Amino acid sequence: MSRTVLVLNGPNLNMLGTREPATYGRETLADVSALCARTAEQHELTVEFRQSNHEGEAIDWIHQARGRCAAIVINPGAWTHTSIAIRDALTASELPVIEVHISNVHARETFRHHSYVSGVAVAVMCGFGTNGYRLALEHVSHLLNNKG
Ligand code: DQA
Repeated sequence: MSRTVLVLNGPNLNMLGTREPATYGRETLADVSALCARTAEQHELTVEFRQSNHEGEAIDWIHQARGRCAAIVINPGAWTHTSIAIRDALTASELPVIEVHISNVHARETFRHHSYVSGVAVAVMCGFGTNGYRLALEHVSHLLNNKG
């Protein structure tokens, strides 16, 4: 059984570390990638870590995960609040989806309070900083280990 997890990051997350550090912290996306790789190793998972600023590219990657990956961990960035297309792609993947947000979106502007993704996610990590990615991967491992 596959233990490969697509960890997908949406728009502007390539700017992590320099972008609004008071909200998102000083860690870079490379630091997050390294954290995911360490966590994956501890839990015998394989991580495919990706980021795109282009919605169509992200949708293609989600499609390609279907039947190949065990789960998708996604920080959809602003697509969270705008994209039915990302939600539909996640549904089409037929994979367990874990939604991650570095910041607590519910403590921010009201337009960030609604997520198109949460309704198709098995879990949402929100406000844990970059540690949310580690928690999400640990939960994927838990799900796979307890799969009947
Ligand atoms: C984010 C929250 C979103 O509202 C925002 O558009 C992002 C990052 C987060 O990780 O906290 O780009 O997903």
